[in-house]
Amino acid sequence: MVNSIEQRKSQHIQITLNEKVTGESISTGLGSFVFIHNALPEIDFDEISMKTTFLGLECQTPFLISSMTGGTALAETINRNLAIAAEESGWALALGSTRALLDSDGHSSSFLMRKYAPSVPIIANLGAVQFNYGYGVEECKKIIDLTEADMLVLHLNSIQEVIQENGDTNFKGILKMIEQLCRTLGVPVGVKEVGWGIDGQTAKKLINAGVAFIDVAGAGGTSWSQVEKFRAEDPVKRAAAEAFSEWGIPTAESIRLVREESVDLPLIASGGMQTGLDGAKTIALGADLVGFGRSILKEATQSAEDVLEVMKIREMELRMSMFGIGARTIQELKNTPRLKEL
Ligand SMILES: Cc1cc2nc3c(=O)[nH]c(=O)nc-3n(C[C@H](O)[C@H](O)[C@H](O)COP(=O)(O)O)c2cc1C
Repeated sequence: MVNSIEQRKSQHIQITLNEKVTGESISTGLGSFVFIHNALPEIDFDEISMKTTFLGLECQTPFLISSMTGGTALAETINRNLAIAAEESGWALALGSTRALLDSDGHSSSFLMRKYAPSVPIIANLGAVQFNYGYGVEECKKIIDLTEADMLVLHLNSIQEVIQENGDTNFKGILKMIEQLCRTLGVPVGVKEVGWGIDGQTAKKLINAGVAFIDVAGAGGTSWSQVEKFRAEDPVKRAAAEAFSEWGIPTAESIRLVREESVDLPLIASGGMQTGLDGAKTIALGADLVGFGRSILKEATQSAEDVLEVMKIREMELRMSMFGIGARTIQELKNTPRLKEL
């Protein structure tokens, strides 16, 4: 069991680094939005502040490293590089699924990143479907205790589980368990997708269940049907996966749909984020934090310095976007009337 999780995590890293794991024609939808340039911003570039808060926690930037990995030796290197860079730059850090943390003592240290990132928000992660496969409130409490995370995000990945060999496909009754966990865990509980987005109706159910935040993890970036296609041994599943390469709610659309249900629910935009300009657009569309996944993975396998270099570029792109529309703060960016749909 443990070995199969470990092998799967290794393959996910190798496949997302080396194979084509995006759809052909689907996009985040952010290309349909442009900022109206302000030639006379009347602000000093050096005064621009990226500081913000998320669920009461102070953040030096509105950027987050999306949930990726843990549970293998390479995963430990990746998480350590990400954690050191996150601490240095003030990005929030999400861990990959912590299921392996409780199943094994083999690579549990790959999830213990608080010592490298003492001051930034850390988000622990678990598949919500695990509530039908032996996990409950007690396991989630253990995960929070061990990781010293500030909050937990549950991922919804139904289509991925179908393609995955021996995937966990019974999603019945999950909402009720999410509701119970929100009431009893003691730290904020959020929900994310893994690259297919969250629609308005689902957002409404989750909000009523008491989730503290939603991360849309929309379509237009990494496609997990594509990733699992490369692992699938069953020829039927492998062939069927191909038809889903364009599946999902584009990130920009998902932000709009969730915001229609709630104007103030803490909201993370992710799925296909490539630049700080992408991030700026999602904030102007209503996001509070912006998550980067696969686009930062390669550097994470190399060194903390390489991760920091990418972070600096993403931050410069955000600050330039803010300068270009004359927004001095994240709040002003959020309220800008300068984002236009083409
Ligand atoms: C190697 C890798 C492993 C991932 N593992 C997890 C995971 O354990 N839990 C999770 O919620 N999402 C996981 N994801 C999904 C990301 O968090 C994200 O939602 C998705 O990849 C879309 O974002 P992107 O286009 O920026 O990659 C993983 C992504 C990558 C690239």
